[in-house]
Amino acid sequence: MNCKVIAIENQKGGTGKSTTALNLGVGLKMKGKKVLLIDADPQGSLSISLGIKRPDELDISLATLMSKVIDNKPFNDDYGIIHCNEGIDLMPCNVELSGIESYLFTVMSRECIMRTYVNQIKKNYDYILIDCTPSLGLLPINAFVAADSIIVPSQPRILSTKGLDLLLRTYSQVKRGINPDLKIDGILFTMVDARTVNDRSVIESMRETFGMKINVFDTFIPASVRVTEANMEGKSIFAYDGKCKVANAYKNLTKEVLDIAAREKARFRDDGSR
Ligand SMILES: Nc1ncnc2c1ncn2[C@@H]1O[C@H](COP(=O)(O)OP(=O)(O)OP(=O)(O)O)[C@@H](O)[C@H]1O
Ligand SMILES: [Mg+2]
Repeated sequence: MNCKVIAIENQKGGTGKSTTALNLGVGLKMKGKKVLLIDADPQGSLSISLGIKRPDELDISLATLMSKVIDNKPFNDDYGIIHCNEGIDLMPCNVELSGIESYLFTVMSRECIMRTYVNQIKKNYDYILIDCTPSLGLLPINAFVAADSIIVPSQPRILSTKGLDLLLRTYSQVKRGINPDLKIDGILFTMVDARTVNDRSVIESMRETFGMKINVFDTFIPASVRVTEANMEGKSIFAYDGKCKVANAYKNLTKEVLDIAAREKARFRDDGSR
């Protein structure tokens, strides 16, 4: 299986990262893809939104697997993976991961621990989505090292050029140093109120400023209480209300993500046949 690994990151909190990981993951599953979501945020919000009520009580989580990699201990591919209701797999996370993050500073190859885990299991999946924590610390850096690409969910009102520059700097450092093939799939606008002139004008000016350098997804995710309601029920937007405008938007995003992967594959084939 040719797996694509996507890190979903914005160092700003509450921009729709976990919501996007969940709904893009289920969107890809609905297109017949085998999907693993990795919750890489000690808050465990992705695990909670998949119906795990108390992630802190889990015996096995991403922290366990990263410890095994650090200690060079073997593990089975499916160790700790939870098969969720909607047909996707989850490597859950809890507060123990913050302990691992501090410990990583003392470890050899500290940026590459998550990659070692992901590389062992990626043969079993078409897509692995990593839901990152809102920081630019060692955990998101581990995710960037493990990933093929990054998606950056942002609210138009609060996306600052400075914030994006910081994220791009970390991206460039990882690309230069450890993962030369890393790409940015795009900026995804979330929680958009299309009625406000402000949201619309920010999206347009971002397209003008960054459009040449970074893809801005054509799809944007509208703001809707449906998202919070679905979260509280531990369901994706598709299972909660498959006909609402947010479900439609995540369906369109899924198509854009699949198109990017198809274009990359075609380019790879062309390069190979030259
Ligand atoms: N399209 C949307 N419309 C309305 N509310 C939304 C939308 N997307 C996400 N939310 C809500 O906004 C809050 C933050 O979303 P989410 O948890 O996905 O962000 P995050 O970037 O993962 O946050 P963190 O940085 O804390 O990890 C949640 O309460 C979620 O239900
Ligand atoms: Mg989150």
